[in-house]
Amino acid sequence: MDRIYLDNAATTQVDPKVREAMLPFLVDLFGNPSSTHGHGRKVKSELEKARKKVAELLGASTSEIFFTSGGTEADNTAICCSISTYGLQHAITSATEHHAVLHTLENEEREGRIKLSLVNVDQEGYPDLDHLVFLLKNNPRSLVSLMHANNEIGSKIDVARVCQIAKDHDAIYHSDTVQTMCHYPHNVKAIGLDFLVGSAHKFHGPKGVGFLYVNKDSKIHPFIHGGAQERNMRGGTENVAGIVGLAKAMEIAHEDMAEHQEHVQGLKTRMIEKLERQIPGVQFNGNPKNTRESLYTVLNVSLPESEDNDMLLFNLDIQGVSCSAGSACSSGSNKGSHVLEAIKANPDKAALRFSFCKFNTEEEIDRAVDVLANIVRPELTMA
Ligand SMILES: Cc1ncc(COP(=O)(O)O)c(C=O)c1O
Repeated sequence: MDRIYLDNAATTQVDPKVREAMLPFLVDLFGNPSSTHGHGRKVKSELEKARKKVAELLGASTSEIFFTSGGTEADNTAICCSISTYGLQHAITSATEHHAVLHTLENEEREGRIKLSLVNVDQEGYPDLDHLVFLLKNNPRSLVSLMHANNEIGSKIDVARVCQIAKDHDAIYHSDTVQTMCHYPHNVKAIGLDFLVGSAHKFHGPKGVGFLYVNKDSKIHPFIHGGAQERNMRGGTENVAGIVGLAKAMEIAHEDMAEHQEHVQGLKTRMIEKLERQIPGVQFNGNPKNTRESLYTVLNVSLPESEDNDMLLFNLDIQGVSCSAGSACSSGSNKGSHVLEAIKANPDKAALRFSFCKFNTEEEIDRAVDVLANIVRPELTMA
């Protein structure tokens, strides 16, 4: 029987049409885009077409898009370079951010460049915006970094509102949009933020390529020094095949976004309902039943306490279901999820993250829940 892949927040499979678009750049179109001869010029022109496509889909101009090696580099660039370019001395983030943001800001603080404040989050993982205002009033001209939707529990904020709060206090706003890019439309002009990021492997593109949007009014110094690539903003020969694949994946995602959203949201709702029916005592982390404020691709589940919970992921794996673990325990090397810890999830309960994509089917959801229910409560499994 085919394995079931429900770990799409970790990475997604490359869309066959994306692979097709990339192939020529791994065969005949091998020129270096910085070379001025014909081989180079042809590749350069395809690279710029990809930039134009990404910019169009975000409502940005091409001069505001910089290709990177992925979401982590884009986050690091926005954070470190806005701090150094503007001499910012204070930053605000939350304890539930991805480590690409949290560890970067913690390092900036350790190195003595900034003081870092954490905005309070509630039990569903939403930042307390009154607390954000309080922090900003005491520290105008801060960097605010708050993600659009959480990669572990899916809690999704109103980025335009947070951006407005930041702007009202003369702050710079960066949002880690890695998990929402290509799952929702993003119009950078309408949001008004300074930095936003994308990572191709989260939306059926290749791994190792992403982009950073830098608002034209928020010019920053480069993060990676070297050649003049990316208009002197990111040294290093461009990953052309990856960039072409990224743009193609973005184009495909925007063509039928509403249809996929409906399909994937349907799978998530189906899984919630089936889990509630088949596993008494199951709980959900975040706010997954709120379709407006929860990322439709992610479902984080806490299971009733059981002696076998340590083996849950392993047992699911050997029965053909791939998903992620996320426990709140944080002792020793068995370090659990910092997100579940921040929202004070019960550390004695095993947590699993299921994440979906357009390729998943209702049959897969049904089978995954049956397998899980059989592992967790074999005595309750219907014949
Ligand atoms: C919210 C978020 N930010 C950043 C990243 C890092 O992206 P990348 O793997 O492209 O470096 C991830 C990947 O898991 C993510 O989920």
